[in-house]
Amino acid sequence: MKIIKVNNYDELSEKAAEIIAEAVKKNPSTTLGLATGSSPLGTYNKLIDMCKFGKVDFSKVHTVNLDEYVGLEPTHDQSYRYFMNTNLFDHINIDKNNTFVPSGIAPDMEAECKRYDGVIEKNSPISVQLLGIGENGHIGFNEPADYFPEGTHVVDLTDSTIEANKRFFGSKDEVPKKAITMGLGSIMKAETALLIACGKQKVHAIDMLVNGKVDPKCPASILQNHKNAIIIVDNDAAAKI
Ligand code: F6R
Repeated sequence: MKIIKVNNYDELSEKAAEIIAEAVKKNPSTTLGLATGSSPLGTYNKLIDMCKFGKVDFSKVHTVNLDEYVGLEPTHDQSYRYFMNTNLFDHINIDKNNTFVPSGIAPDMEAECKRYDGVIEKNSPISVQLLGIGENGHIGFNEPADYFPEGTHVVDLTDSTIEANKRFFGSKDEVPKKAITMGLGSIMKAETALLIACGKQKVHAIDMLVNGKVDPKCPASILQNHKNAIIIVDNDAAAKI
């Protein structure tokens, strides 16, 4: 694992955006793995600016997202499809037909997991998989478990994740209790796994990821075995590493 320590969120976002833009320059029709949440917002803003100034061209890029809440329509303002459209896709020259987010409202979620694994396969390889990290060490919505799930699956969100994400909803009760997420097998197949973390609330997760043993109780720890994992952390999140 390569660890890059930065002074602040702006530097973190700049570095992450540079790595993603490089992958697109190297292969204009590359597939990017994308994440939602607070962490990537700055990265997406940098990519939007680069695109506006003609420094990166997304016209042939494909994207696969990590996860979606079960039960939320794509038009719901807290769905991850809505997040991706409003925070990135609407502002860059990407063809939305080439952007993929698992469905949280498929009538048969098991079938949707299989379908999404097919989508990932068809768009593989993922050149850069962008990742945030949960306070409990989750990546995507792969929550702490007894094993590392390979493929796309439906998960029960842990209380700590629901608690952490209630800031986006009116109340804790409104946070969906289930999500569909890309599995760790797919994340591990990405050519580069790029994890970004910022703030004191991530100290424990980053400590477990970097200094702990590879253990499904901290799903992100699997990145210790990734061939090219890059972890970008600000000083606060890096307090114990
Ligand atoms: C979101 C995702 C999650 C988040 C994590 C951190 O697509 O996969 O793993 O990256 O919950 O969220 P933030 O960045 O909001 O702290």
